[in-house]
Amino acid sequence: MENPGGNQTPIVELILVGFENDPELQPLLFLLFLVIYLVAVAGNLLIVVLVVADRHLHTPMYYFLANLSAVEICSVSTSLPRLIGSLATGDRTISLQNCYVQFHFGVIFSTTQCHLLTAMCIDRYLAICHPLRYPALMNGRVCCHMVAWAWIIAISYSIMLEMLILQLTFCGPKEFDHLVCDFSATNSFCGRADKLSIGTNYVSIILMFMNFLLSLASYTCIIISILRIRSSTGRQKAFSTCSSQLIVVTVFNVCVIINYVVPVFRPPPLQYKLLSVLNGIVIPLINPFLYSLRNKEVSQALRTATEKLAAFRHRHRV
Ligand SMILES: *[C@@H]1O[C@H](CO)[C@@H](O)[C@H](O)[C@H]1NC(C)=O
Repeated sequence: MENPGGNQTPIVELILVGFENDPELQPLLFLLFLVIYLVAVAGNLLIVVLVVADRHLHTPMYYFLANLSAVEICSVSTSLPRLIGSLATGDRTISLQNCYVQFHFGVIFSTTQCHLLTAMCIDRYLAICHPLRYPALMNGRVCCHMVAWAWIIAISYSIMLEMLILQLTFCGPKEFDHLVCDFSATNSFCGRADKLSIGTNYVSIILMFMNFLLSLASYTCIIISILRIRSSTGRQKAFSTCSSQLIVVTVFNVCVIINYVVPVFRPPPLQYKLLSVLNGIVIPLINPFLYSLRNKEVSQALRTATEKLAAFRHRHRV
């Protein structure tokens, strides 16, 4: 890193090094990420469309799910298209401005995702542990507020980071051994970088940890009350409404833990890069499948929708 804070020309472009070492791997990775991106977008879009279109799914639980799917679409769309493009063309540069934009939207979407998952846990907790009071506690208005707050907190967090970053200069290195502009980009700032690392690391760890504790508490209560249900069909029914979500929440928290713990062990760069990308795509990818395959109401809605579509086609052909 040469002369930070000196009179050198400011860096306006970054090089995301990516998978430089393996030119033969490039087409394969291009295909892989392209397929992942298309599947994630299509699957989540399907969930949003189903929830909006099917009256049976107009409940807080599915509103949260549709909102989560919408966030997942935005989230993969901030990180993957540039990566796919650069795997296709071999052009690894990204302007500093684009890197900022990618970083900020990434922060907003991942924070919102985290809050929505917690909101979904709280929703299931109320539904299963306080079934009689549930309709009063969780109505459309409350649901709307929770969704709104998930966004408000995420956007204010990102604005706070922005204000910290604006006081700093980017001093490189210009080569940035990563696939996307995410939190690791914040190591490349100089000036009052200590403030920034407080802003990024501590606040995000606190936010994540609070969400983690809330989800853990909700699920502990849920599991305890499910175990107390005497009839086995009742137990199964209660469990089936939250098992998909339990998997998503667990995977999410494992990803977060991996994201914070793995760097400590200084893994080989390629593995670490893959892992950090995986973190952003694993939930968008599994979410639609978990909900559509394991959830009776969603698969019923899907069946109704395909039947309607088939009938529509048939009518127009005859
Ligand atoms: C998100 O949640 C709001 C409020 O509950 C709901 O009205 C809206 O339909 C949801 N968004 C989607 C895409 O379903």
